Amino acid sequence: MITAGEMIKNGGLVAFPTETVYGLGADAFNPQAVERIYTAKGRPGDNPLILHVASPAVFFELAQNPPPYAAKLIEAFWPGALTLVVKKNANLPHWLGGHPSRQTDTIAIRMPANPVAQAIIASSGCVIAAPSANKAGTPSPTTANHVKDDFVSGEVDMIVDGGSVALGLESTVIDATSAEPAILRPGAVTGEMINATLGIDIFTVATAFSATNRDKASTSHGNDSAPCAPPRSPGMKYRHYAPKAPMTIIVGASENIAAYIKKECKTSDWQSVGILASSDFLYDFATGEKAKVLALGGTPKAAAQNLFAHLRTFDKLGVSEIYAEAIHGTGLGVAIMDRMLKAAEGRIIYV
Ligand code: TXA
Ligand code: MG
Repeated sequence: MITAGEMIKNGGLVAFPTETVYGLGADAFNPQAVERIYTAKGRPGDNPLILHVASPAVFFELAQNPPPYAAKLIEAFWPGALTLVVKKNANLPHWLGGHPSRQTDTIAIRMPANPVAQAIIASSGCVIAAPSANKAGTPSPTTANHVKDDFVSGEVDMIVDGGSVALGLESTVIDATSAEPAILRPGAVTGEMINATLGIDIFTVATAFSATNRDKASTSHGNDSAPCAPPRSPGMKYRHYAPKAPMTIIVGASENIAAYIKKECKTSDWQSVGILASSDFLYDFATGEKAKVLALGGTPKAAAQNLFAHLRTFDKLGVSEIYAEAIHGTGLGVAIMDRMLKAAEGRIIYV
C-alpha cells in the first residue's frame, strides 16, 4: 500500500490533519499537482497557497532576507499555528506558492505541529502546498468526514483521518515582507501573544471585529468595505466559511439577543431557525422555542473547535436563517469573530 508521503512525492493530492484544520496537500514544486489543488477546490488562481515545511531551516532556504522578527516568531511559535508571508528567494520557480500560471514575489510558510502532518511532510521529502481541504467558500474542515463531504472520488487521492483537529481555526497569517509585521488573518497565535514576544503593538489588517475596531464594524457592512484596501492577502477578498442559510451575528446581553431573534426571525416555524448560542441563557431560550440550537462552547478554545463543524451542521439541518450570539473579541475571540463575520458576510447587529 502506498503511504501518504509517497502519494505526495508521486504527484498525488492528500488531505491530512493539521492542528488548525485539515489541509489538501501536494508537492509544492510540482506544477501539475499544484494545479490540481486549485481545480479540486474551485479556488481562484490569484489566491496563493501556504507552503508546509518540515523545519525552520527550510523556511530560511525559501525566504529572501526575512526580517529579524520572523526568526523570533519562529522561535516562539513553531511548530504551530503561525504562517509567515515573506519575500521569496529569487532562485525559486516564478510561480512557487501560487497557481502555476502566475508569478509570485512572496510566499506563505508554516511548520505545523500536528504529528501526522509532520510525519507526512518528512516522509514525502517535499515542501507541501496545502490550502484548507474544503471547496472554496465552504467552512474549513475540522474532521476527515468534512473533507469527504466536500469532494467526490477522483478529486482527492487519499484522505488521512487523524480525528478532530486540536484548534479548529486556520493559522494566524503574518505579513513579514517589511520592517513592521502585520496580522493578515487572526488565528490561535493571537495578537496579544505576538505583542508579548516582539514587544510591539501589532496591526491587524484583516479582521472586521476586535475590541479596538468595534466601532468600524457597525451594522451590516460587507467584506468589501473592510477598512484596508487593496487586500494584502488575496484570500481576504473572497467569500469564506459561509453556511447556506444567511447568518446574522448579534452582539449584546443574551436577553436582548433572544428578544431580537423572536422579533426578527422570518419564519413562524422555529424548526427552520438555526441559533448558535454562546451563553446558557440563549441556549435555553432556543431550546424552549424548539429552534435548531448548537452551543458554541463555554470557552474561546471550545468555540474555535466547534464553529466550522456547527456551520456545516446547520447546512445539513437545512435551516433557512441563522442567528449567532457574538463572543468577546479579544485574544482567541478575535479569530473566532473574524470567521463568524465572514460566515455572516458582515451582517452584525448590536442590541
Ligand atoms: O491553518 C492553516 O493555515 C491551514 C492549514 C491546512 O495549514 N491552511 C489554510 O490555507 O488555511 P488556505 O489556503 O485556506 O488559506 C491561506 C491564506 C489565504 O487567505 C491566502 O490568501 C493567504 O493565506 N496567503 C497565501 N499565500 C500568501 C501570500 N504570498 N501573500 C499573502 N497571503 C497569502
Ligand atoms: Mg481556506
